[in-house]
This record gives sequence, structure tokens and C-alpha cells, in this order.
Amino acid sequence: MSSPDKLIIFDTTLRDGEQSPGASMTKDEKLRIAKALEKMRVDVIEAGFPIASVGDFEAVQAIAETVKDSTICGLARALEKDIDRAGEALKNANSGRIHTFIATSPIHMEQKLRMSPDQVVEQAIWAVKRARQYTDNVEFSAEDAGRSEIDFLCRIFEEVIKAGATTINVPDTVGYAMPQQFGETIRSLIERIPNSDKAIFSVHCHNDLGLAVANSLSAVKNGARQVECTINGLGERAGNASLEEVTMAVRTRPDFFDCNTGLDATQIVNCSRLVSSITGFPVQPNKAIVGANAFAHESGIHQDGVLKSRETYEIMRAQDVGWSQNRMVMGKHSGRNAFRTRLEELDITFDSEEELNDAFRRFKDLADKKHEIFDDDLQALVTDAGFSAENETVKLVSLKVCSETGEVPNASVVVSVNGEEASASEVGGGPVDAALKSIESIVKCGAELQLYSVNAITSGTDAQGEVTVRLQKDGRIVNGQGADTDIVIASAKAYINAVNKLLQDAQKAHPQKGEV
Ligand code: KIV
Ligand code: ZN
Repeated sequence: MSSPDKLIIFDTTLRDGEQSPGASMTKDEKLRIAKALEKMRVDVIEAGFPIASVGDFEAVQAIAETVKDSTICGLARALEKDIDRAGEALKNANSGRIHTFIATSPIHMEQKLRMSPDQVVEQAIWAVKRARQYTDNVEFSAEDAGRSEIDFLCRIFEEVIKAGATTINVPDTVGYAMPQQFGETIRSLIERIPNSDKAIFSVHCHNDLGLAVANSLSAVKNGARQVECTINGLGERAGNASLEEVTMAVRTRPDFFDCNTGLDATQIVNCSRLVSSITGFPVQPNKAIVGANAFAHESGIHQDGVLKSRETYEIMRAQDVGWSQNRMVMGKHSGRNAFRTRLEELDITFDSEEELNDAFRRFKDLADKKHEIFDDDLQALVTDAGFSAENETVKLVSLKVCSETGEVPNASVVVSVNGEEASASEVGGGPVDAALKSIESIVKCGAELQLYSVNAITSGTDAQGEVTVRLQKDGRIVNGQGADTDIVIASAKAYINAVNKLLQDAQKAHPQKGEV
């Protein structure tokens, strides 16, 4: 049992976060995020739902094999096949946890499960015992606890603790709870359940009413010692409690909370950027902690106050959560060693010399177009390399666009599909439209474009544009990304990246829909 003043941070960006429509991630992308979470010293990483698909299973397995300093968790419904698959995926983890769940609210038991409360209790006990055959670190969640009857929660939690559950999670699955009432529920569960001292109480709050963080913090104030949360508050529907907000709230108010996390908060901004660039979900400028304006002081009175004494308007220091001056690090005369050293300082490493050489070639190309290369440019450069390296089916060979006042823009593109080159030309409403239509006329993907967005990575008109393209086909949604100083090329890369993902990704099951 961990100490009472430790607040365990359980990150579910890779599982609940990935359930946001459009936020699906590849195995390599999940691994990168998992490594960043480990570096931030997140206690538990929920790496996925192994029964969902082969891809999910492999991602959990790869994370369990690679990440050694955080506990790796796999989600499983209270079903034999789910638990066995999770146990298998976590086999090589240094520290593995199985998280099993079943719904406990009257509406879920009657309408979704069509099971009686007695059957639900029996199934939960069985599931926890089954999970204990794989690991002694078992978490049990009562799905829709926020709308469940407290007497029933007391009963099922007491039974699953007896069966071996070491963490008891109380999810507000539909974001219905109110902070004071939710806190009282947690306090009352801990007080009423006779064996509550044998487990850590955890909460998992959704943000449908914008109260996920408030509800989580109220629960912490009332005895919860694990919070389930996600980077940037990503998650099903309106999202989950945001990791950065929960973490900084307890850190900033030690006078109010009697516990703290073990996180290295200086990694927060890096993690936020990584998740945003991989999922294509931008962070709103006024988002607490990680928004671009979170530490910006616009009004004259505020600026004056901050200059005289920072504490007049700032309750946290920007650098404590990882905001740094976006240093100009390199230019076209920088050598390979300087490049490698700066990347190492940014925690970017390569598996082989070949990968480093490839990234260095890209850096030189970029430096020819852009005089000042910032840290964010380097991050984008490497991310862009990652996107194209793993997607081999379709590749951009060349692109030419013609855009002139009074003329209809047109584009000519050459792409290689499975190593064979093909070319096409199309006109469009603008150069980007023409470029994407040309690519589509070759790949014939037939997907619906759901989102197209451009974000300047740094300031200046020579900044790289980072483009996100979201495509939907046959109920599957994928995000593609591309970065370049030429936004038409960045758009073409992003479109091709999304097409490759559609070609790779397989269907996967949703944990909260379907059987039991
Ligand atoms: O929201 C929820 O109830 C969940 C459970 C699977 C914990 O995500
Ligand atoms: Zn959830």
C-alpha cells in the first residue's frame, strides 16, 4: 500500500483518450507517448484495451516490454477472454496491472447488461479472482458509479476487495456528479466499507458538465489516492479530467490538499505537445497550464504587476510546467554533432545511425529554407520523419502547384504506391484542394474529409506549417499529420499519412459497448 500522502497518477490517454473520435494512434505513436509519460514519472499508464484488436494488444505488449519505471495497465471487461488477453499482453511488464470493470448503475445493469445486481456482484468477484491469477495488482471499476446506489457500491466493493482487488475505482462515467456530492460519496464509501483500508480508492471523472477536474479534486480531498486522467483532458465525449490541471492543483495548494504526486511537472508541456501533435487535437490557447496563453500577460496592469513581482498575477512558474524560451538552437552551418547533442537534450534519440543521418538530412533541407531552427522545429522534423517512416504503402515523390491571381489553381503530383510511381493533375478551389484531389485521384481512398487544420509551429512567415487531416471511412476515423515550410506540401504529407493509416488500421472493439 502506498503512503497516505502520495497521490497516484493513473494516465489513460492511451486508452480512454484514444476513445475520442479521431484520436486513434498507431503502436509507434503510443510507444512514444508512453515513454514521455514514463519520463514524467506517471505512476500507472493504462496502455490500452488488449481484447479490442490485434493492434491494441500489440501496443500494450510493446509498452509493457519497453516502459519499466511506470506500472503498465490493460483494461478488461469482467469476461474471461478479456482478462486472459490482458494478462497475456502484460506478461513481460516489470509491473503490470489488470483493470477489470462492470457496470453497477440500475440503468446499465437493466438496459445494457440485462443482469441482476446479484449476478453483477458474482461476475465482478469472478473477474477479480481471474485477474489475480496473472498479477497481484488488480483494479476494479464500477462503471457508471456516479449514478449507482451507494449501498450497492459498498456491497460490490467489499466483495471485490475480499476477492483480491487492490485498487477500487469510482468512475463518473457520464460526467453527472457534482463536486461536493461526489467527494461525500468517496468519503462515505471509505468509511462504510469494512475492508476499505486494504485498497486504494481511485476516481475516473468525465467532463460532460465541465466538472471532471473539480470532481476529481473533491474526491482527493475526501480520501481518494488515485486519480485517472489524461493529457490535455483527452477522452470519450467531452473528455476526462486533465492530468496537468489535477497535478498542478494539488502541487500549488499544499495548504489545502494533504497529498501530492511524484510527477516531474517540467515534462507537462512536452507531453501536451506530443499528444496534441499525434492526435491532431489542438490545445485551446486559454487552456489551463498548457494553453499558449496560460502564462501570457496581455493587459498593461497585469504586465506592470508581473514585472514588479511575479506573484502579483502568477500562482505557478511557467518553467515549472515545462514552458521554456523557444531557443534558436541551430542554423544551416550547424554540424551533425551539434544536431545530435541538441536532440539528446530534447530527449530525442534514434534507434540507428541511419535514422539519425536521415533526420540530419531533413534538418539540412529545412535549414536551407529557414534560417533559424527552433526546438519546436526540431520536434516537428523528427515527428514528421516518424510519420513517414512507418507508413510505407503510399509515399509522396513530388508535387507541383500553380496558383495565380484570376486563374484556377492546379496541382500535379507523383506518388509511389507499393513502390510503383503514378502521377495525376487536378484543379481545385485552392492549391491545397488541387493537391489533395490529385493524390486522391491516384490512391482512390474514398474517405470523407472531416477536418483540415494548419498550425504554424513557430512565429515568422518562414515558419513550418503543421497540418492535420482527419479522414473517415467505414466508421473508422484517422488523423494524418505533415509538417513543412510549404503548407501545400505539408498538406499533401498529412493527407498521405492519413491514407496510410486507413490502409493499416483494423477495426477495434469499444470497451463500453457490446457484451457484458
Ligand atoms: O468511464 C468509464 O467508466 C471507464 C471505465 C472503463 C473505467 O472508462
Ligand atoms: Zn472513462
